Amino acid sequence: MRVFKTVELLQENLSFIDSRKTLGFVPTMGALHKGHLSLIEKAKKENDLVLVSIFVNPTQFDKPDDLITYPKTIEKDLDLLRGINCDIVFIPGVEDIYPENVQSGSFDFEGLDTVMEGAFRSGHFDGVGTVVKRLFEITKPTRAYFGEKDFQQLQVIKKMVEKNHLPVHIIPCEIYRENDGLAMSSRNTRLNKEQREEAPLIHQTLMACKKLFAERDIHFIKKMVENSFQTNETLTLEYFEIADSKTLLSAKTKIPNVKYRGFIAVFAGKVRLIDNIALN
Ligand code: PAJ
Repeated sequence: MRVFKTVELLQENLSFIDSRKTLGFVPTMGALHKGHLSLIEKAKKENDLVLVSIFVNPTQFDKPDDLITYPKTIEKDLDLLRGINCDIVFIPGVEDIYPENVQSGSFDFEGLDTVMEGAFRSGHFDGVGTVVKRLFEITKPTRAYFGEKDFQQLQVIKKMVEKNHLPVHIIPCEIYRENDGLAMSSRNTRLNKEQREEAPLIHQTLMACKKLFAERDIHFIKKMVENSFQTNETLTLEYFEIADSKTLLSAKTKIPNVKYRGFIAVFAGKVRLIDNIALN
């Protein structure tokens, strides 16, 4: 496994790779867990070489505190990556990604960025778009892998690739969960014992929505979700939405042949957890 910490060193090394070889790219912010590893395993199966980047991108954090407390476990990350035979790791500095100003570009994601995560985390998707576009330009991958855990992010990236005609295939990857259903997340390590014990309620509630979806209307399901968090003293619901999987627009009624998903954001103390589920 080769590790590069600057754009120059990485690009020099990439230039030696036979251009017929395919490169699978998995961008991450580190604090790696089995969810990340599942993306890397998929990338390994589908490509000749796999490149993982680790960069905690400052411009996608709307709260300074969240950026400061974001877990950083670089030595452990490198051990995990060695353990699954990752080929190349890129750990750029802020100056590699933002040579001029540490600032987001502005994108037209055609409204995909203004709902849910975008509505509650101002500027978040411009930050994500900026870093991912820059990373694609540096690494020029054949395929790039994104988790459905961040379903809205995945749709935003697909839109950016389509609108900018970027020569990369975006590959969606299933949500990887703990045995009790909690979606794996770097932020889970910040949960205390009680919060960790309560957190599976998030996925349990989404499963209940999926079960009810065929028979009950959207208003009923939303009320059920609100009620199930109102009685919980550890978890606070930020939002629950049922939205069209393609447009991400909030649904009021069900239209035949449209695919819907349930999206949820919950606070456990200061830790913010998100999850989502296909409803039909
Ligand atoms: P990060 O949160 O580190 O996630 C990196 C990738 O792993 C994302 O595509 C995310 O959706 C995926 N992932 C995380 N947890 C997962 C799980 N439980 N199951 C499946 N996939 C999971 O997402 C980011 O970083 C950043 O926004 C990034 C794209 C790197 C840009 O900075």
